[in-house]
Amino acid sequence: MVAADNLETLERDILQRIAAAQDEPALEAVRVAALGKNGAITALLKTLGGMTPAERRLHGPTINNLKDKVSAAIAARRETLAAAALDARLKNETVDVTLPVPDAPTETGRVHPITQVIDELIAIFADMGFGLAEGPDIETDDFNFTKLNFPEGHPARDMHDTFYFHPKPDGSRLLLRTHTSPVQVRTMLAQKPPIRVIIPGRTYRSDSDQTHTPMFHQVEGLVIDKGAHLGHMKWILEEFCKAFFEVGSVKMRFRPSFFPFTEPSLEVDIQCRREKNEIRFGEGEDWLEILGCGMVHPNVLRNCGLDPEEFQGFAWGMGIDRIAMLKYGMSDLRAFFEADVRWLSHYGFRPLDFPTLAGGLSS
Ligand code: DAH
Repeated sequence: MVAADNLETLERDILQRIAAAQDEPALEAVRVAALGKNGAITALLKTLGGMTPAERRLHGPTINNLKDKVSAAIAARRETLAAAALDARLKNETVDVTLPVPDAPTETGRVHPITQVIDELIAIFADMGFGLAEGPDIETDDFNFTKLNFPEGHPARDMHDTFYFHPKPDGSRLLLRTHTSPVQVRTMLAQKPPIRVIIPGRTYRSDSDQTHTPMFHQVEGLVIDKGAHLGHMKWILEEFCKAFFEVGSVKMRFRPSFFPFTEPSLEVDIQCRREKNEIRFGEGEDWLEILGCGMVHPNVLRNCGLDPEEFQGFAWGMGIDRIAMLKYGMSDLRAFFEADVRWLSHYGFRPLDFPTLAGGLSS
């Protein structure tokens, strides 16, 4: 029989171990040791069976009392431990809701106006069935000039302020293309007519002021077919101007001009009205030059392996930077290439507003 003071010691011992348990598994170990199948209190309860009714009446309540007390202590400790664990978790997993959420890159980044205008050009001309062609920035003299009917020593070469590389041992010199027209040659050499492409890209000339930068952008257009004529070109350019400047009608003026690679050669002006800092298209009395064009010269067709008796076509070349400035109202071309984030965030375009004819070009 367990003596009363032993019971007290047992109780004190168990209660101490309950209080000392620092987590759920430790507490569970104390419970098993006291109330489990082989636990100390379970063993005591088992002794009740072997007692006389009188002994049982004496010890039964004490042992059951001990069992209840220990059970209650374990339950209370379990609750305390659970609350402490929750507290610790809450403290660790703190989310500071006062921290400002940074804008996504798609919100802060801006598309450069040149990229935007190139995307607009592609959308407009793709709608008219034009493909896209590209060529290298570093060109041969042959593609940039000779095949385009600029003979060696022709004064028109001087108009191009060409950047040349150092001569190679054989005397030939590579250059930075002065226009996108050499890609006309590359396209005609690579594709069979009918050809309908636009060629946007970087071009280079040694020139710098408010409206000229040493690197600038052009878009070339080229159509070669059996019956392609100037009437087609006028329609295409007019449709392009209406779509690009987002106006219902434009008046255009074709003036005779000279380019070695076209015959006849023309320059195109569009009608506009200049108001203080703004230019409006489709109205007014002023004219603004926007591009050069013409029928592809028979010599160029021949140089590209096409028979001018069978094929003819037209081409045009336009300054992208210039039409971007006209459409979006920037006055200094040099700012385009200074990479000033303030300028970019003012004049740039939201990256996910991709220009389409259906959805709107510039909205
Ligand atoms: N390549 C010319 C330039 O840079 C522009 C040009 C004029 C292109 C007439 C053409 C064209 O295709 O037909 O000044």
